Amino acid sequence: MSFPHSRIIGTGSYLPPRAVANEELVRELAARGVETSDQWIVERTGIRQRHLADAGVVCSELATEAARRALAAAGLQPGEVDLIVVATSTPDFVFPSTACLVQKALGAPGGAAFDVQAVCSGFTYALAVADSMIRTGLASRALVIGAEVFSRILDWNDRGTCVLFGDGAGAVVLAGDERPGVLAARLHADGRYESILRTAGNLCAGKVAGHPYLTMDGQAVFKLAVSVLDAVARETLEAAGMATADVDWFIPHQANVRILHSAARKIGIPLEKVIVTVDRHANTSAASIPLALDLAVRDGRIRAGQNVLMEGVGGGFTWGAVLVRM
Ligand code: UT7
Repeated sequence: MSFPHSRIIGTGSYLPPRAVANEELVRELAARGVETSDQWIVERTGIRQRHLADAGVVCSELATEAARRALAAAGLQPGEVDLIVVATSTPDFVFPSTACLVQKALGAPGGAAFDVQAVCSGFTYALAVADSMIRTGLASRALVIGAEVFSRILDWNDRGTCVLFGDGAGAVVLAGDERPGVLAARLHADGRYESILRTAGNLCAGKVAGHPYLTMDGQAVFKLAVSVLDAVARETLEAAGMATADVDWFIPHQANVRILHSAARKIGIPLEKVIVTVDRHANTSAASIPLALDLAVRDGRIRAGQNVLMEGVGGGFTWGAVLVRM
């Protein structure tokens, strides 16, 4: 059976319990000779704390907990889902996919399960893919999850990156429907910029080949992010036949409060319509958008019938936007 549309019918999220405030991180880094400050982190990024997973906690565990909460919000049992898509750059294994591990943990065998690798744009990619699969009859109810343990790929001696990221997971249940939920989506990539943000390592002959830590040219990423977020927002709104004024809530990828604000200003969305979690979560890559969505649904800001514009941007270089009616 195929449906003309898909809708978000439940959201959930999970943060590892250990919240590390800037002051604590600054002390830990100072002990290893890395100099930074709460003031620098807050002024340049807006980040005040991040959640970090304990040693041994893996991506699929965070993803499974977020999925359970999204399923509960949707009033569904795991077995009622026939597609699981996990957006992540920090999977448990090279293979099998994190989605298969989540499926096993939920006890819901049989449906399709796979990972999407589009780094910080991953959730927008995963949501667009799941929406397409529902509309073409390949699935009827999907769990779409963004989950990361970025702390595992950070070089804690590189102050230019290690203060920026956190761990967490967010999920939505997307279901086939006669009424429109996902109104439009647009996805892009430009591989020529692959080197400005990457973790250029792999496993080879029993060893790590290449570099196992995240590296970033922060200023290059910043400039590109602001320009592509503006363009893809306009493109997506146009595809839905809508104007900026029709957007009730804007959820950009949460990397830096300065990027969020300048993207909103460029698009013409007032700052009070921007959901901001980067202060509490830091940059959780593919998890940042569904984490912010779930928070704002649960605190009552995002309500049924409202239009939410979600935008991702990150390594690859990738970017994308999904406009949904809740
Ligand atoms: O999730 C994917 C998307 N990622 C992003 O969107 C990240 C985009 N980039 C950014 O958010 C910003 O570029 C950063 C927050 C990464 C950096 O901010 P910036 O204003 O571009 O700083 P910068 O890289 O130009 O560095 C300015 C100074 C440098 O010192 P000098 O050369 O001016 O003496 C850095 O060495 O700040 C220094 N610095 C730090 N100082 C204290 C860099 N990191 C730190 C730090 N603490 N943690």
